[in-house]
Amino acid sequence: MTRTPVNVTVTGAAGQIGYALLFRIASGQLLGADVPVSLRLLEIPQGLKAAEGTAMELDDCAFPLLRGIEITDDANAAFSGANVALLVGARPRTKGMERGDLLSANGGIFKPQGKAINDNAADDIKVLVVGNPANTNALIAQAAAPDVPAERFTAMTRLDHNRAISQLAAKTGAQVTDIKRLTIWGNHSATQYPDIFHAEIAGKNAAETVNDEQWLADTFIPTVAKRGAAIIEARGASSAASAANAAVDHVHTWINGTPEGDWTSMGIPSDGSYGVPEGIISSFPVTTKNGAYEIVQGLDINDFSRARIDASVKELTEERDAVRELGLL
Ligand code: NAD
Ligand code: LMR
Repeated sequence: MTRTPVNVTVTGAAGQIGYALLFRIASGQLLGADVPVSLRLLEIPQGLKAAEGTAMELDDCAFPLLRGIEITDDANAAFSGANVALLVGARPRTKGMERGDLLSANGGIFKPQGKAINDNAADDIKVLVVGNPANTNALIAQAAAPDVPAERFTAMTRLDHNRAISQLAAKTGAQVTDIKRLTIWGNHSATQYPDIFHAEIAGKNAAETVNDEQWLADTFIPTVAKRGAAIIEARGASSAASAANAAVDHVHTWINGTPEGDWTSMGIPSDGSYGVPEGIISSFPVTTKNGAYEIVQGLDINDFSRARIDASVKELTEERDAVRELGLL
């Protein structure tokens, strides 16, 4: 194989998501079974030794597509020539901690990383922010990278999207593969809005098939929106394998395209569509093609949906204002 390897930078490589993610990237699941990959692992100094241990295990897999692993605590080196950057490293939320508490703890990480991406990454860089609060961290990184097109900075709501599909399949007895056009709107937080009004189950409208607004309001939406907290409560640690899986899905879909007739959910800089203030990084329904995405336009938003989208967007504008006050934008 002579193809030039794609440089993939992963921050927080020694963490639990990193451990679930790196082997899938190295095996070809992120970019494709014929795409060689070179990994750059960024950690804080205390994490370097554990990252080296993970790199030893990656070596021991003898992955045919893996062309190199570099481990560093220097963001400029880690993002040098990066084509894809997965910003995972952050402080995870622990029991009883609200996401708002994370803003100041994590904001400081993403500003220097955004600058390092601006100064060192490849021209085609695509960034996915996983570390929470993901949408606002992505905004901080994007604002620190004025030379990179803003749309290359995205935040992960694919885990919420996958959770919603799974809950809807369980309710209706459908296969997950029968469910299309589901949307996560807003923030990756408890205010997010999983919308089934445009979704289809085996070609039929999902909301009409379910026909149970009380289940929608009192069970489905809170179950999906609070799933992260439920996992923390059950595991004593935040979701890791499912988060890594969603990160692989997000980047794979961004690069390889959405299937005909379907869409996905991504946190992306708003262009003002659906009344979401321009510039904030909010989740939308998007289609992807040839490495670019577009917001699905023209969806009819009913009152039920409008109120919930607005509530999540309000939280995002408050987070933006808070990090602006902290001097992070
Ligand atoms: P973890 O604590 O196991 O790992 C985080 C790693 O990041 C640690 O190894 C730490 O040393 C490293 N790190 C911290 N600061 C760093 C920096 N400045 N540069 C590089 N590395 C740094 O946490 P985890 O379980 O892997 O979770 C990581 C993040 O992902 C958390 O913020 C968590 O809340 C978030 N998360 C997001 C989603 C989502 O759907 N968006 C889902 C699950 C978890
Ligand atoms: C999740 O959705 O599982 C995580 O974002 C939860 C968290 O706060 O780490």
